[in-house]
Amino acid sequence: MKQLLTLLSLCLLFAVISCQKDNFQTKIVYPDLPEVSYDYSPKWGGMHNHMEGQDLGITDAGATLGRVLFYDRILSIDNTVSCGSCHSQSIGFADEAKLSTGIDHQLTDRNAPPISNLYDDDLLFWDGRSTSIDDLVLEPVRNHKEMGMENMEFLVAKIEAAPYYGDLFTKAFGSPEVTSDKIANAMTQFVKSMIGCDSEMDRHQALGQTLSPLAQQGMDLFFGKGACYNCHSGPDFNDRGGFFDPFFPPNGGGFGWAQDIADIGLDVEYEDVGMGVFDEALVGVFKIPSLRNVALTAPYMHDGRFATLEDVLDHYNTGIQKSPNLDDVLKSWDTGDAITLGLTDNEKSAIVAFLHTLTDDNYMLDERFSDPFSR
Ligand code: HEC
Ligand code: HEC
Repeated sequence: MKQLLTLLSLCLLFAVISCQKDNFQTKIVYPDLPEVSYDYSPKWGGMHNHMEGQDLGITDAGATLGRVLFYDRILSIDNTVSCGSCHSQSIGFADEAKLSTGIDHQLTDRNAPPISNLYDDDLLFWDGRSTSIDDLVLEPVRNHKEMGMENMEFLVAKIEAAPYYGDLFTKAFGSPEVTSDKIANAMTQFVKSMIGCDSEMDRHQALGQTLSPLAQQGMDLFFGKGACYNCHSGPDFNDRGGFFDPFFPPNGGGFGWAQDIADIGLDVEYEDVGMGVFDEALVGVFKIPSLRNVALTAPYMHDGRFATLEDVLDHYNTGIQKSPNLDDVLKSWDTGDAITLGLTDNEKSAIVAFLHTLTDDNYMLDERFSDPFSR
């Protein structure tokens, strides 16, 4: 009888442990960090060589802490999701899914954009609702679909309870005390350090390295007949280059320099109105995304509707819709109708070949930005 009881209680104990394993993170996973911390001073070069010598207030210890936080699932309410779950390094910190999966298998409303060279971006998220990385970093942590950690005191308590953070906070900020400001600051340092400017196109622009004939043809089309440069210029191909538009914002009646936003006529009626939540005249207007590493960051657009770059080219070539706020660049001056670009199949392939030269392979392999948790 006694033996039976012992056996029974052992079974019960086993059941409780395995149940705990399913529901809670019982095993602490430590980050695997290099003995001497990586050098997080920005690696300027290529089309960002004008930044040479500029420091962004990043310390090696600060960015190291930021890296651990970026990949740590304890930052989500149920320990299942980290920033890295939706922003994966192997594809330029984008997500291969149309919409990303957050806590409780909930889908996000939009496609996760890639992350690179955001250090001075003043238009973040697809609708530009955040104006600097410093303000943005804790938003996904709080977001009820992404990480669901609305209570910052609980976040601080969870981080304080993880044994590996005391040392990391001390190295970064001189004391083990955890605050939400310090969490945000470290993560900002890490995200700002995520710079990659060693693509073929960077070497072409900065060092005069030649592109393949097809890519060169594509570049000429990008800056010519394709008119892409009107919106995708500058070192990250997300700039209107100071283009002056007397009718900007569309239908707004104001005079102004065009901001780095546009309605590219994806739909006549937008389900997701983008910047339209702020102003009727901006329905269908979205942030112009960077095209760095774009060959890897599929699917494309704010809702991930296009699976390939060829689909994107087809849109610009023959698929632009006459949406209410369609950008002037994509409208015929005399009729106001949506333009067609008249690109041949060969010309479309050339532009795609050019877009492939914007990939910085080392960025995807850079250990400084990699996941320190081996799970
Ligand atoms: C569940 C998926 C998910 C998680 C987790 C997540 N993100 Fe995102 N991220 C997105 C989506 C989706 C967007 C676009 C949202 C929008 O525009 O409305 C986005 C946008 C961004 C942007 C803006 C990029 C740009 O070019 O405008 C940055 C930066 C960013 N996330 C960083 C982070 C950080 C840092 C974390 C962790 C604290 C994080 N993300 C966690 C899905 C996620
Ligand atoms: C009038 C401005 C404008 C012009 C001209 C323009 N784009 Fe865009 N581009 C945008 C905007 C805005 C988006 C995001 C739209 C959205 O998601 O609603 C975008 C998105 C893209 C994307 C998807 C990127 C991603 O991460 O999802 C690619 C690729 C692209 N454009 C390439 C091009 C090419 C190639 C051309 C020339 C044939 C071009 N664009 C012309 C404004 C423009």
